[in-house]
Amino acid sequence: MSATLAPRSRFIWSVLIDMELILSLLSSRSPIIDIVFEGNNVLTGAGNFTIRFQGDGKSVTGAAPIIQELCAYFPFLAGKDSKAEKLWISQLESFQTLDFKTLDPVLQRLNTHLILRSFITGHSLSTADITIWGALRGNRVAVAALKKGTLVNLTRWYKFIEELCPWAMLAVESLNATTREKKLAKAKDGANYDIALKVSLEVFCLSDNKQLTRGIIENTENGVVTRFPPEPSGYLHIGHAKAALLEFQDAILEDLALMGIHPDKVSYTSDYFDHLHDYCVRIIQSGNAYADDTDKVTMKDQRWDGLPSQHRDLCPDESLAHFAEMKKGTPEGLRWCIRAKISVDDTNKAMRDPVIYRCNPAHHHRTCDSWVIYPTYDFACPIVDSIEGVTHALRSIEYRDRNPQYQWMLDTLGLRTVQVWDFARMNFIRTLLSKRKLTKLVESGVVWGWDDPRFPTVRGIRRRGMTIPALREFILKQGPSKNVTLFDWALIWATNKKHIDPIASRYTAIETEDCVEATVTGGPVTPYTEKRQKHAKNTALGEKDVAFSSSVILEQVDAQSFQENEEITLMNWGNVIVRKIATNISTGKVTHLELELHLAGDVKKTNKKVTWLSTEGHSLVPIELVDFDYLLKKDSLNKEHVLEEFLNFNTEFRVDALAESSVSNVQVGDIIHFDRKGFYRVDQAPAAGVPGIFFNIPTGKQK
Ligand SMILES: *[C@@H]1O[C@H](CO)[C@@H](O)[C@H](O)[C@H]1NC(C)=O
Ligand SMILES: *[C@@H]1O[C@H](CO)[C@@H](O)[C@H](O)[C@H]1NC(C)=O
Ligand SMILES: *[C@@H]1O[C@H](CO)[C@@H](O)[C@H](O)[C@H]1NC(C)=O
Ligand SMILES: *[C@@H]1O[C@H](CO)[C@@H](O)[C@H](O)[C@H]1NC(C)=O
Ligand SMILES: *[C@@H]1O[C@H](CO)[C@@H](O)[C@H](O)[C@H]1NC(C)=O
Repeated sequence: MSATLAPRSRFIWSVLIDMELILSLLSSRSPIIDIVFEGNNVLTGAGNFTIRFQGDGKSVTGAAPIIQELCAYFPFLAGKDSKAEKLWISQLESFQTLDFKTLDPVLQRLNTHLILRSFITGHSLSTADITIWGALRGNRVAVAALKKGTLVNLTRWYKFIEELCPWAMLAVESLNATTREKKLAKAKDGANYDIALKVSLEVFCLSDNKQLTRGIIENTENGVVTRFPPEPSGYLHIGHAKAALLEFQDAILEDLALMGIHPDKVSYTSDYFDHLHDYCVRIIQSGNAYADDTDKVTMKDQRWDGLPSQHRDLCPDESLAHFAEMKKGTPEGLRWCIRAKISVDDTNKAMRDPVIYRCNPAHHHRTCDSWVIYPTYDFACPIVDSIEGVTHALRSIEYRDRNPQYQWMLDTLGLRTVQVWDFARMNFIRTLLSKRKLTKLVESGVVWGWDDPRFPTVRGIRRRGMTIPALREFILKQGPSKNVTLFDWALIWATNKKHIDPIASRYTAIETEDCVEATVTGGPVTPYTEKRQKHAKNTALGEKDVAFSSSVILEQVDAQSFQENEEITLMNWGNVIVRKIATNISTGKVTHLELELHLAGDVKKTNKKVTWLSTEGHSLVPIELVDFDYLLKKDSLNKEHVLEEFLNFNTEFRVDALAESSVSNVQVGDIIHFDRKGFYRVDQAPAAGVPGIFFNIPTGKQK
């Protein structure tokens, strides 16, 4: 059984984190404004727990009501039989009483209920199990009753839940701390969503196989479902860690996976083409849309000038006839489109009779040739959202002008309301996030592709060495601001460094160009190797062999800094005294060194601590170290700026190097550290005859 437990608790954590992500996006509009613990903890029922809502100012206090509120608020937290669960949770208080006479019948009843059951409701763990278990766990009278062993089935269940949910035990322990409030106050630093929610969610996240992208925040009695991704267009980039797109759909799913997010359900607008067609017929019949064959340029001008199309008052039957023609893809049909009849001259131009259906005989990537007419995004989104049960659509604030149009579609078609939540996008200095501009750079070959490590795409920054926890931490920390913010990459890379520093194995590499051979006198007569830890503070990373011999190489820049008879330190070996420096007069470069080993010397007293590699006793590994610069020469571009004028064409720097032999074992994606050089991500593992390629990972320090 224990084998199946770990993934479950991991899963719970992952839901928790995704939930936080979504919540942080929403919290500026989220009806929950605060969750406050008072007294001990909610899990054991000892103490009060208050959740406050915006608007009506509703506030719910007490373990059972709160749990029910949370289950209602996050329906995915509840098990399959939420009704039965609710019933049990509503009786929570009866499990908390310290009066044995009152408690005993309650325990007897639960014992009987459990005779043929492993769980309180259904066939899997649910919120009912956890909350009642928690209530009993916190009730000393109940614990004493269970110890007697007469309530056989109840005791079996109690122990089973304990085994099944080691995380719940941990939650009890961590929640059962007087430092709780202090911790919460501390955690609140820098984040403007409510971290307390995390604490409650770790108790309540029980959903089985449900993960969160389609996930499910609830504000009214009817519940809330949100969708992700909301807008169609290219690859996910860093700014879209707040939103996401459809169309490059496989790439999007992969990108979400790169961020550790796995959708609960993936659907395609094309799954709904039949419905959308029917809705279009309906909207035409109701006189709220019309067929139009105004050419594109004229239509654009008319919309701009607030003038009606000549077909605006076409009767529904005529419009339907044109629509039927469009559906056939005839040359006549091709000329027509369908436009919503909203307004001719609304100050919001998005409201000026937008096109809702077009004829396009091109092959569709999913439906192939079964349709030649396609709904526009403006038409499809509100309908699909409504059909699919989405109640809250997240979208970035740039689309705010389209919100009334979205609302109009819902109202006109009599669809269930979907609330649109706006949030501001993040911008980064010297970085393009516009899909059009990014596409241009890909197509013109300025970068290698969508996963170029200089690109702000999710795959790009992952390839550069960004980790998922750092990405999350960064996004959660900056919160759900509605203001467009311009971030310095230094911030996010500094966050990343915190995550990689403790787990990056340490190695040595020496730049090949002009590297200096040195003879170590008094050194080992024959080469030997010694085991050394890959990370001084993290033994879990294991050991590596380091070779020592009388022949070593050093970097030219170090060699040039030496004076004769100067004592220096060879890192991770000891001190040497520089006895002879041979220099090529015409180039000024050092060509050879003679070093005298002086292990008695104090490494703390030398000014120069240099990296070195033995040339004997192991095989050096040829590698390439690659560093990158920003693609833009300017912090931010506006619409007037011509991209080409601000492009930095010198952004890739490659250096050949040799690394110690244990580097031959690294794998693509590993993050390691080269002494005195920095952190690197392995982009190509070293192989016979092929150098390994290592991308420098920024750490947020200014160069
Ligand atoms: C919980 O709330 C009740 C009613 O507001 C109050 O009487 C009680 O003292 C509170 N308990 C704790 C532990 O704060
Ligand atoms: C419940 O307890 C009885 C003994 O009182 C036992 O025979 C039965 O197997 C138990 N039920 C389960 C599901 O373990
Ligand atoms: C909570 O902590 C106190 C003090 O450490 C301990 O005595 C008590 O048993 C704990 N309660 C639970 C439910 O673990
Ligand atoms: C958002 O921007 C406005 C105007 O630029 C400013 O007044 C406000 O303080 C900003 N809000 C936040 C949370 O940064
Ligand atoms: C010094 O360097 C030059 C240029 O690389 C080279 O031609 C010459 O042979 C070198 N001289 C010695 C003594 O190595």
